Amino acid sequence: MGQTILVTGGAGYIGSHTCVELLNAGHTIVCVDNLSNSSPVAIERVQELTGKEIAFHEIDLLDAAGLDGVFAGRRIDAVIHFAGLKAVGEGQAQPLRYYQNNVTGTLVLLDCMKRHGVTDIVFSSSATVYGRAPAPLREDAPIGAEGVYGRTKEMIERILQDLAAAEPNWRIVLLRYFNPVGAHESGRIGEDPRGIPNNLVPYIMQVAVGRLDKIRVFGNDYDTKDGTGVRDYIHVLDLASGHLAALESLPKLKGCRAFNLGTGTGYSVLEMLGAAERAVGKTLAHEVVDRRPGDLAVSYADPTRAKTELNWTAKKTLDDMCQDSWRWQSQNPSGYE
Ligand code: NAD
Ligand code: UD1
Repeated sequence: MGQTILVTGGAGYIGSHTCVELLNAGHTIVCVDNLSNSSPVAIERVQELTGKEIAFHEIDLLDAAGLDGVFAGRRIDAVIHFAGLKAVGEGQAQPLRYYQNNVTGTLVLLDCMKRHGVTDIVFSSSATVYGRAPAPLREDAPIGAEGVYGRTKEMIERILQDLAAAEPNWRIVLLRYFNPVGAHESGRIGEDPRGIPNNLVPYIMQVAVGRLDKIRVFGNDYDTKDGTGVRDYIHVLDLASGHLAALESLPKLKGCRAFNLGTGTGYSVLEMLGAAERAVGKTLAHEVVDRRPGDLAVSYADPTRAKTELNWTAKKTLDDMCQDSWRWQSQNPSGYE
């Protein structure tokens, strides 16, 4: 039976794709987003793709009274909490803003949920909480993030663990995403980073569309198959289905449980570039430059727990990821603008 889900950050990249999945599965969505890193056009396009309405509230999570108004007068069954700031370099430069937005924002949300008797939540965490632990990464590895952004995720995970330990009626899923890429196969919604992209695939796609000159490969002297960094890229629609699986698992869940959302396979920067070139149908200019400070050589998931306990696995291939990213980028060369 359809539930009413409060989605924070639903206008963002992963949130918008998850909203499509939720609406198609028969759920009702109430969305809260301050649009600090997203466009209202994303919400319009989700509605257009699904033929369903979203109750959208342009509200900041730090606005406790505003958030309270969203919970008042309606039954919310569960929350999926995407809202947060996520740029690694920006987090290092603006720690107070990042801790305030991500950690305090989550505390305001949890307090509001508690007052309204809502105790089911799925939280967007990140593989970055594993720090430098060796791959394949399992959920029982000790966590210890490097950097401000990662530490906001680690702190929120610990807050949620403590909450579940103290108040057994809470049911909490921590989803640790690996590297989300790709877009909806319609090409209508996708990732629209502000400014010059930090992440590999958006950067490659902006080179392909002519907005940027050439791809910079951050180091080819790592101890990997071709010397370039290896990551577990996962299609955003597989991530979206992971959220549905997490929601469905809540009734039988006790306390707080973490799950990796990854494919379990690592691809190098050059393998990703090759797949992007196949999707785009031309070669893309690139040069090898110095390693990016803070980068890991290799990161990929052991996705066994999500398979066993959520009955979820990633299905899409590297070529699907690149073809869908390219469809979105080529049909929307300037994003949602
Ligand atoms: P995004 O920036 O596209 O989406 C986040 C959304 O949250 C945006 O629409 C933004 O406007 C909103 N938001 C931020 N702060 C808010 C606040 N205080 N109040 C209300 N709305 C607020 O990012 P995304 O890639 O969709 O990521 C979603 C979540 O997943 C984030 O928590 C992110 O840290 C996490 N995550 C992302 C990745 C990734 O590579 N994209 C990897 C691991 C984890
Ligand atoms: C980065 C963040 C991580 C965050 C994740 C979100 C850093 C150090 N890490 O992870 O905390 O959770 O984004 O998705 O910023 N690369 C290039 N050229 C580029 C961009 C990237 O060669 O222009 C390489 C990187 O060195 C890496 C791979 O491509 O090997 C993927 O990079 P990226 O997409 O930025 O993701 P992560 O580094 O995994």
